[in-house]
Amino acid sequence: MAKTVETKELTEVSEAQIAVHWKEEEYYQPSEKFKAQANLRDPHVFAKFGLDKFPDCFKTYADMLTWFQPYHTVLDTSDAPFWKWFVGGKINAAYNCVDRHLAKYGSKAAFIFVPEPESEPDVVITYQELYSRVNEVAALLRGMGLKAGDRVTFHMPMVPELPITMLACARLGIIHSQVFGGFSGQACGSRMQDSGSRVLITMDSYWRNGTLVDHKANADIAVRAAKDLGQDVDKVLVWQRYAGRYSAKTPMLAGRDFFVNDLLKDYKGKNVEPVALPSEGPLFLMYSSGTTGKPKGAQHGIAGYLAYVTGTSKWILDIHPEDIYWCMADIGWITGHSYIVYGPLAIAATSVLYEGVPTFPDAGRPWRIAERLGVNIFHTAPTAIRMLRKLGPQEPRKYKYHFKSMTTVGEPIEPEAWRWYYDEVGKREAVITDTWWMTETGGFLGTTVPAIHAMKPGSCGPGAPGIHPVIYDETGAEVPKGSGKAGNICIRHPWPGIMQTIWGDRDRYVKTYFAKYNKNPKSKDWRDWPFLCGDGAVQAADGYYRILGRIDDVINVAGHRLGTKEIESACLTVPEVAEAAVVPVQDEVKGRVPEVYIAVKPGVPHSQDIIDRVVKANEEVIGKIARPKHVYIVPDMPKTRSGKIMRRVLAAISNRRDVGDVTTLANPDVVEQIRSMVQGQETMTTQEALPEDIAKFGENE
Ligand code: WTA
Repeated sequence: MAKTVETKELTEVSEAQIAVHWKEEEYYQPSEKFKAQANLRDPHVFAKFGLDKFPDCFKTYADMLTWFQPYHTVLDTSDAPFWKWFVGGKINAAYNCVDRHLAKYGSKAAFIFVPEPESEPDVVITYQELYSRVNEVAALLRGMGLKAGDRVTFHMPMVPELPITMLACARLGIIHSQVFGGFSGQACGSRMQDSGSRVLITMDSYWRNGTLVDHKANADIAVRAAKDLGQDVDKVLVWQRYAGRYSAKTPMLAGRDFFVNDLLKDYKGKNVEPVALPSEGPLFLMYSSGTTGKPKGAQHGIAGYLAYVTGTSKWILDIHPEDIYWCMADIGWITGHSYIVYGPLAIAATSVLYEGVPTFPDAGRPWRIAERLGVNIFHTAPTAIRMLRKLGPQEPRKYKYHFKSMTTVGEPIEPEAWRWYYDEVGKREAVITDTWWMTETGGFLGTTVPAIHAMKPGSCGPGAPGIHPVIYDETGAEVPKGSGKAGNICIRHPWPGIMQTIWGDRDRYVKTYFAKYNKNPKSKDWRDWPFLCGDGAVQAADGYYRILGRIDDVINVAGHRLGTKEIESACLTVPEVAEAAVVPVQDEVKGRVPEVYIAVKPGVPHSQDIIDRVVKANEEVIGKIARPKHVYIVPDMPKTRSGKIMRRVLAAISNRRDVGDVTTLANPDVVEQIRSMVQGQETMTTQEALPEDIAKFGENE
C-alpha cells in the first residue's frame, strides 16, 4: 500500500496564483508483463516528439492512416490560430475505420453490443457487417440528397446504430453532430439551430435503469425548439430499438418522420464509394458548454483529428487488434467519439458497447460483462468508479476477469478512489492511465505512457508525446514546476487533434482559447498562440500535472460539463423567477452538482411550487443531469456595487464554508440571511479548504 508524503506548507502566493494544499502521492509501477506487450516502449519517443521536432513529429501519427492522396504540408499556420493539418491530402475517415481492415479482420468483431436487459443476447458486429451497414446507411443519406458539408444532428442512445450512422456520414463528408442522448429535446433543438441541421436522426426508445424510455418524444420537442429559434427541420429519421417494431408511444408525423429500417429496404446491399475528402474538411461538431447560454460547437477536422485519436489509441490506450476493449463512456460525448468510435476502429479494435447504466441491475454488472466477454482493457470515469465503489466495493472480487490496462477520464480522480480502482477493479495487475483532455482538444493532452511512466494517483502525468503544456499565472508568467503553485494550464503549440474552430463563430474561438495569452493577434507564428485549456493545474517537481478543475464558469457534473449560464437561463423560463445563480457543490459520487439560488419577482409569494418548476425546467431544458441538489428562494442575491451577482459567496455558503469578507458588497446583510437559510442558525462551516475549482468559481465576475 502506498503511503502519502506531506509536502511543505506554502507560504507566499500572489493574487495571480492559486495555492494548492494537497499531499504528494507515491508512485506505482507498471508490471514487466504489461511493459513487454505494450505498443509504445521506446523511451526515446519524448525526444522524437520534442518541441524542436514540431510539427514534423506528428507525421508518425499521419502514417498510421491510409491516404487517397498524400499531404504536402504538415501544418499550415497562415490563418493562425485556425490551424490546418496535413494540407493537400485526401482521405476518408470511414475508409480508415472500416474498409481498410476487411482483408485482414473482416470476420473479427468491431463491436459487441450489450443491451441493458441482462436477458437480451449480445449483438456481435464484425468489420464485414459494419461495412455493409455503413454502406447502406450512406446510400440512404445520399439518396436523400445529403452531401459533403451538410450538417445532420443525431440524438441517439448507446446502440450500434449510432457509430454506424456516424461512419455513414463520414463516408460522404456529411458533418455529424451527435447530441448526448440524455440531453433534453430542447437542448437538442438549440444545437440543431446552431448547426443549421435540417435532418434529425434519433431512435424510438432505449433502455435506461430498467425502463424502456420513449425517446421519440424528445424528437418532437427538438423540432419545435429548433423551429422556434428559426431552424426548419424537414425530416426526422427514427431508428427502432427493436427492428421492425415501434417501441415508443409518441406518434410518427406523416411526411416528416420515417423509420430508418423502412427506408433502408431500398438500399439493401448497396455500396457507396468513400469520398476522397480534403484533410481539413470538417468531420463532426461536438457541442460543449461555455460560459454563455449559447451552445458552442467544437468543430473537428478529418485528417488531424483522426491521426491524433489513432496514434493515442495505439500508444496510450495500448489497444491491439486481439484485445477486447471496453470504454463505458457515452458516444454522445467526445470520449466516445474519439475513443470508442474513431480511434479504436482505426486500429481494428474490438469494442464493447454497453447500452445502459453501470449499476443496473446491481454494482456487479460491469464485472459480469467483463468476465463474460473477456474484456482486458477498461475505460471509465471517476464518477462511475465512485458509484461502483460505493454500491459494491467488493463486487470485482467475485468475478474472474483480468484487466491489463484501465483508463480514467473526465474529471480529477481522488487518490482514494484511484486506489480502489487499482486494488479492487484492476486487482493490482492493471496499469491505470489518467487521461486529461477536453472536447476541444480531440484527444489526450496529459497522460502517462503506460509502459514507460510510473503512475501517481490523482495526477494525470506529463504531457502526451508531442504535447508540451505550460502553466501561466494571471500575468502570463510561467509557473515553474515543483513550486507548489497552480495556474492556468495551456499548450504551447497546436497539435493535430485540436478543434478547427467554433462552428460559425471564429471570434469566439479566438477569444475563448487564445486571447488571454496571445500578445500579437496578427502573428502567423504558432509560438504566439498558446492554447488556454480552461483548467487550473499544478506541476510537481517530477513533471506530472495535477488538474484542479475548470477555471471558467462551468460545472463538471459526473464528468459532464454544464454551462452555468445555460442552467440559469433554464431557471428563468419559470415566469416568477427574476434572477438565478447556480454554483457547484461537492458531491461524494458525482464530484460536483449544481445548486440553485433564485430571487422571485416583486410581490410573488415564495412557494414549493416555484421550486418544483425550477427543477423541472432544468430537466426539460438541459436534461436530468442538470437537476439541482437544492433550490433556494432568497430575498436578494449578494451583489457587488456594480450589480453583479457574487456566485463565489453563494458557492461558499453551499459548500459550508466561511464566506470571507463581504463588507464591500452592495447588500452584505443578505449574505447572513442566505447563510442561515442554507446552513441553519448555527454556524457549521468547516475549516477545510475549498477545492480549487470551487474556490475560483465566479472569480471572473
Ligand atoms: C475535466 C472530457 C482531471 C477537465 C474528455 C476538462 C479532467 C474537462 C480529466 C473537459 C482528468 C477531463 N483529470 N480533469 N483526467 N479529464 N477533465 O470537454 O476539467 O467533457 O477541462 O472532455 O473535464 O470535459 P469534456
